[in-house]
Amino acid sequence: MKRIAVCTSGGDAPGMNATIRAVVRRSLGLDMETVGIMHGFAGLVRNETRRLGHATVSDIIHRGGTILRTARSTDFETEDGRERALRNLEGNRIEGLVVIGGGGSAQGALRLHQMGFPVVHVPSTIDNDLVGTDMSIGHTTTVNTVVEAIDRIRDTATSHERIFVIEVMGRDTGFIALHSGLASGAESILIPEIPVSIERDVCRRIQRAHARGKLHSIIVVSEGVGHGFDVANTIQTVTGFETRWTVLGHVQRGGSPAAIDRTLGSRLGRFAVNLLREGARGVQAGLEGDNLVTTPLEETAGVIRQIPAGLYDLAHELAI
Ligand code: F6P
Repeated sequence: MKRIAVCTSGGDAPGMNATIRAVVRRSLGLDMETVGIMHGFAGLVRNETRRLGHATVSDIIHRGGTILRTARSTDFETEDGRERALRNLEGNRIEGLVVIGGGGSAQGALRLHQMGFPVVHVPSTIDNDLVGTDMSIGHTTTVNTVVEAIDRIRDTATSHERIFVIEVMGRDTGFIALHSGLASGAESILIPEIPVSIERDVCRRIQRAHARGKLHSIIVVSEGVGHGFDVANTIQTVTGFETRWTVLGHVQRGGSPAAIDRTLGSRLGRFAVNLLREGARGVQAGLEGDNLVTTPLEETAGVIRQIPAGLYDLAHELAI
């Protein structure tokens, strides 16, 4: 194998650049060339490439976002688009592809694998909703960002004796809400995996805390549950307590990656190149415990990771 390609696809996540750097530098170490595909699968269909040499990945390990840009492509969902993508890979004499991204990227990688092209997926999404790895690249940085925001809001919640509802990302899963809610001592965490009644469960909890003298509460809501605005309205109507809401939005996705995401990206990026070189095909590279592991894409693509229910219980047990 003499030439491989790398792309980032789906939502950007902090640590993608560290992963690209690892792919390029490992390839150089093995005397292989790396081609960067711009704009994920969309760029693959449109044949948008750039050569990635040693210097092109200098000074990026600490940067959020992705130097290869990213996109959510609909072109690749058509048979014609996928065939064009395959022709472009072959036309550029690319012998293997590293796809860095989340659930949509895993599905795209699986499609290419089924067309006979050597591909390895590296899990990177702030949502952390992928199986076959303990953690996806970018999630920890996002949780740190959310915790910092909640800490600031808590100062105001305490000072004004208010309820604050904070809506966070996570798509259809509650990992960001759960991990940040636990780490910031949120009084309630609402996630799609564990449905609760706002009136019965959340409001009563707030009222019981109020009766004990706790006059403020932080409620973290995953976007998969619904709008924080509606939750805040219900709480204010039912309890009569002054309630505000904040949508953290895309501030959660950018920013300099935490050390753990740089490390994870470095390890998995390097591992992905080794895998391609050694002949592994159609797998996701992951980290379980301290072991680098592979899982067939057929077992990861389209599979949603389960929430650790114990953490949810722990958060609510301690935030009384
Ligand atoms: O998958 C990452 C994510 O940030 C989700 O948490 C969120 O639902 C989605 O992407 C938002 O996507 P976009 O930036 O395309 O609006």
